[in-house]
Amino acid sequence: MKILITGIAGFIAFNFAKELSKNKNLKIVGIDNYSDYYSIKLKKKRIQILNRNQNFKFFKIDLLEKEKIIKIFKTYKFDEVYNFAAQAGVRYSMENPSVYIDTNVSGFSNLITVAKNFKIKKFFYASSSSVYGDSKKFPLLEKESIYPKNIYGLSKKFNEEIAQNFFEIYKFKSIGLRFFTVFGEWGRPDMFMFKLLNASFKKKKFYLNNNGNHFRDFTYIKDVISLIIKLRKLKNNNHELYNICSNKPVGLKKVVNFIGKFTPKTKMVRRKKQLADIYKTHGNNKKILKKIKNFKFTELEVSIKNTIDWFKNNKHLFD
Ligand SMILES: NC(=O)c1ccc[n+]([C@@H]2O[C@H](COP(=O)([O-])OP(=O)(O)OC[C@H]3O[C@@H](n4cnc5c(N)ncnc54)[C@H](O)[C@@H]3O)[C@@H](O)[C@H]2O)c1
Repeated sequence: MKILITGIAGFIAFNFAKELSKNKNLKIVGIDNYSDYYSIKLKKKRIQILNRNQNFKFFKIDLLEKEKIIKIFKTYKFDEVYNFAAQAGVRYSMENPSVYIDTNVSGFSNLITVAKNFKIKKFFYASSSSVYGDSKKFPLLEKESIYPKNIYGLSKKFNEEIAQNFFEIYKFKSIGLRFFTVFGEWGRPDMFMFKLLNASFKKKKFYLNNNGNHFRDFTYIKDVISLIIKLRKLKNNNHELYNICSNKPVGLKKVVNFIGKFTPKTKMVRRKKQLADIYKTHGNNKKILKKIKNFKFTELEVSIKNTIDWFKNNKHLFD
């Protein structure tokens, strides 16, 4: 079985590939453009770990390089494709919108077109809770009308619409995963939890927006990976969307206080709500839990504690 994973040097793709690598029958090819949005050192370390598996191969390819993508599809004849490559981050989409259109819209369109032409049977792609914008109908259901509030969310909505269109026109099946604030081992330096840990352990300033009065449906990476791996084994005859969330929003103030019990005192700078910020995310996870029976999410305290322990041993990878 041959699998292509894009954005392989990134947080979620790396954790997914690491778990899949345990299955020695799988040949995994990963591509990434090593974007410098955050620490390249961290991205290269992830690839170094995956390279220990003889069944893994890495190529530095950008989603915009369509000819190179066609070439690896021809060479490897993939059975499954997982697209995690993207320009992530909500705030940065206010500063540099064009990179979101390039990678997330044009890049995605390249990949899904090639996957459709090569008749790929399983195509998964990362969407985001950001597609819901400021919707207040909590917990958010997949069938809700969506009105993203920023270019990042809009780019993900566009992915979902392309995938739907490909299903209606070509009967190309795919699964869109709407991730909600994923955190944990090997996580992203630009996101709240690692920003806080990095500031705390390295005596830097930490900016707490809106006094911590935001709520996030934190979802632990190990739970996310385990859900995708279970979903991968099931049959899918449509274009389906799933919220990947724990369905338990928690206030950032509470998380800051909990983390503070295990870390050095942080230089906290309080500032007002930032323009692109969403007040609350809270997804309904009934749809995925109906597919994957008896799934148990890890306790938030346990997963945060694991994340802190991991960070203590790997803080040199963070700028
Ligand atoms: N982490 C979360 O909480 C979260 C939440 C919602 C959605 N998502 C989505 O899940 C996916 C994975 O997120 P992540 O947290 O692992 O982010 P990440 O930034 O760690 O990983 C994305 C990877 O894609 C690569 N990349 C960027 N542009 C590329 C291009 N043009 N061609 C090839 N590779 C490119 C980057 O170098 C990076 O390694 C993304 O699509 C993201 O938008 C993540």
